This record gives sequence, C-alpha cells and structure tokens, in this order.
Amino acid sequence: MNTTTTSETKEIVQDNLDYTLFSWSKQKGITPIAIKYAEGVYLYDYDGKRYIDFSSGLMNVNIGHGNQRVTNAVAEQMKQVSYVTPSCVTKVRGELGKKLASVTPEGLNKALFTVGGAEAIEIAIKLARVYTGRSKIIAKYRAFHGASYGAMTAGGDPRKLPHDSQQIPNIIHVEDPYCYRCPWGREMASCSRECVSHIERVIEFEGPETIAAILMEGESGSSGCIKYPPDYLKKVRALCDKHGILLIADEVMSGFGRTGKWFGVDNYEVLPDMIATAKGLTSGYIPFGALIVSDKIAAQYNDKPLMLGLTYSAHAVGCAAALEVLNIYEDEGMIENAATMGKYMEQRIEAMKKKHPSIGDFRNTGLLGCIELVKNRKTKEPMAPFNAKPDEMAIMNKVATKIKELGMYTFVRWNYIFIAPPLCITQEQADEGLSIISEAIKIADEHVTH
Ligand SMILES: Cc1ncc(COP(=O)(O)O)c(C=O)c1O
Repeated sequence: MNTTTTSETKEIVQDNLDYTLFSWSKQKGITPIAIKYAEGVYLYDYDGKRYIDFSSGLMNVNIGHGNQRVTNAVAEQMKQVSYVTPSCVTKVRGELGKKLASVTPEGLNKALFTVGGAEAIEIAIKLARVYTGRSKIIAKYRAFHGASYGAMTAGGDPRKLPHDSQQIPNIIHVEDPYCYRCPWGREMASCSRECVSHIERVIEFEGPETIAAILMEGESGSSGCIKYPPDYLKKVRALCDKHGILLIADEVMSGFGRTGKWFGVDNYEVLPDMIATAKGLTSGYIPFGALIVSDKIAAQYNDKPLMLGLTYSAHAVGCAAALEVLNIYEDEGMIENAATMGKYMEQRIEAMKKKHPSIGDFRNTGLLGCIELVKNRKTKEPMAPFNAKPDEMAIMNKVATKIKELGMYTFVRWNYIFIAPPLCITQEQADEGLSIISEAIKIADEHVTH
C-alpha cells in the first residue's frame, strides 16, 4: 500500500500548510499527520505508519473508518439524485426520518435535517424562543455547542472568548456537576445536588417566565466528559416541567451509540423536548445533522409556518449516508459493543491507576471517556489548568507527542486524554491503545509531587 516517497509526503503536508488554514491553532509550527487511508480503528499515513484512532476523529466516526457499505449507499444515491430542494422529497429522506423515529426517545418523531451540529443547535435555540415566546437559554460553562455565533455563545467553552464581544444575547451560564472538582466542595454520595439547586436559583433570579430552554449535552464530551450524577438530568427535567421550560439535549457528540445507548439521555431515562445531533448520525462520512423535536412542538407548526430552513436541509446524499450508518449500528451490534468496551476500559484504567500516580480520574459513559491527569492526587492540581496557555501545556504536549510517536491519534486537551475510539473496537485493540497511553503518561508520572 505504501508507494509514496517521503518527499511526496512533505509536499502533501506543505501544500496544506501553504494554502489552507487550520482550526483553533497558531498556523506556524503545526505538524499534521497526512492521512492516506483509514480502516476500522486505524489511520494510515503516506509513509505507511499506522495510528490507532482513540478519538474517532472528533468523536464522530462511530462506525469506524472506511466502511464501504456507506460508500456504496452514497454512490447509489448520487447515481439517482444528489440534490433536491428541501421543498421536494426523496425516498431516502422519508426512510431516514422513519428509521430515526424508531431509535429516538419516545415522542420525538420529527426531524429537520441540517449540515452539521452547530446549525442544529442554532435552530434549536431559535425554535425554543419562538415556540415559548421567551428569550433566555440556560446552558453550562463547561460545554461546547458549535462554532457559529449562537452555538458558540451557548457553550461556555473558552474557545469562544476571542469572539466574546459579539455574543448573542440572553444566554445564561450555570456551573457544571463536576463531581471530581465539585464547585460546592461536596462528595457525590452525600451531597444535596447543589448543582441542581444552583440552577433553580438562577431560574428564580432570571425570572422563570423569561426562560425558553435549558440546553445540555446528553452526556458531556470535549469539556472533559463531566459525567452527570445519576439523577441529575431527571432533576433538571423536573425543573423544566415546573416552569414550562424546554429541555434541549445536545446529542451531537453523545448520540448514536457513543455512550452505549442510542442517545446520552437514554442512560438517564430522560425525555428531552428536542435533540440536536450530527457527528455519529453519519459517522462523519458526509457532513450532516438534525434537530429532532417532540410531537407537541411539531404539532404547533401544523397550522403555522415553521420559519427555519437551509439550502442543504435533508440533502439526499447525507440522508443516504445516515440511513446506512443507522443500519450498520444495528447489523453490527456496535452500540452493545460500545457499552461492553466502555466497561472494559473502566476496569483496565482502574488497574492503570495503581501504576500511574498521575491519573487523577477517569470518567466515561460507554466510549465517551477521558483520563484526567494531575500532579497530586490529594490536591488534584491538574497537570495543565483549564484553558491552559501554551507554556502551561509543556508536560501535556510531551505526553501528546509521545502518544503520536507510539502510533495513536487522540484528542489531548489541557490535562485530559480522551478515550473515545470507534464503537467497533475489539478488546485487543483497546489493549493496544491503552498500552500506548500507559507508556506516554510515564512522562506525566515524573511530574507528580507526593
Ligand atoms: C456537543 C457538541 N455540540 C455541537 C457541536 C458542533 O458540531 P459541528 O462541529 O458539527 O457544528 C460539537 C462539535 O464538536 C459538539 O461536541
């Protein structure tokens, strides 16, 4: 398979560096992996080096790479028709809608298809506002909902800070239920869920009649997999019900089997009013997303115009990719595998904690997980702080470089190393990945203070 010379590889990388811009980075000094092809949990570069993908790209390639069933489904659709205006219909759009309704939580049966996650969040915010006639959206600080203005304002993630001066109005942020570092200094077993009463107070201060929706991920992702306490979402749902507030679940990252269930909220038996999703819907093979709404919300627009739309809504090729991906999840038992492998990761990382004093915490739901590295388990001083500046990333950068050198691609952010491989991963491949991480975090272990 390796027919490319190193000088060709250099040219490929150089063209990318010279003529394209890279997200979220200083443009100088980037050393991207040039990926030639990918299969299952592996990526291969032009020099034939293999990388195990422990973050499924950006936690989206849930079925794994290179599944030719999707290629064929997309090609077949393109042979018939690629694009129709969203006011026309295709067979595949209806089939996808029906299939989706069979896997979504009860009573969420209608979808508006988008091109990605941020768009799904934007329209969720707009719809919540027009549906309720209220303006405010409550969201969490440690969350990312996408890079468009509305979605970015809704997320409290510091990626928004350079654009803060142009925030959309009426977004209210609340603290997260970050149990490892509880903002109220409590332990989960004995706490009074101050994380929920905090939201309740914010609702009172802001005026319940002004709040359209609470927006939360189905399960936390890139902010550090800040797993919800078991009854948290139910309590948030109850607050919403009390005050006529909608609950929007951002399932862009946590949806489609990532957490061992179809949706993150399924782990908590909570019914949201809307689900915004993307990523795993097509496993990244084609950019595609959806806002799925409750029957009650959908019914409101039977006799009133739904003032939302996109040129590429329900793009036929995206629909074909999504429909095939949903079938693959079922045919290949991937969601069950995500649950099993999530449990396996928990056991293996528990054992790794004995060997690696830098592992402060591991949090996961299925295959949405991350290891949090600390300098000291007692003080919990992080190996790199929240929103770390480049010089504060020195140790973690060395860990990340080692991970890459040893043949792994994964998402390393501040003091977090993400464990979110494709849902098709085998036990043997999980062991392979964890042994790379184990080797790399020896670097962090050397910086632990007792
Ligand atoms: C939870 C969550 N919501 C929304 C988004 C935005 O999705 P997209 O990048 O497809 O716009 C992301 C992207 O990482 C995400 O993780």
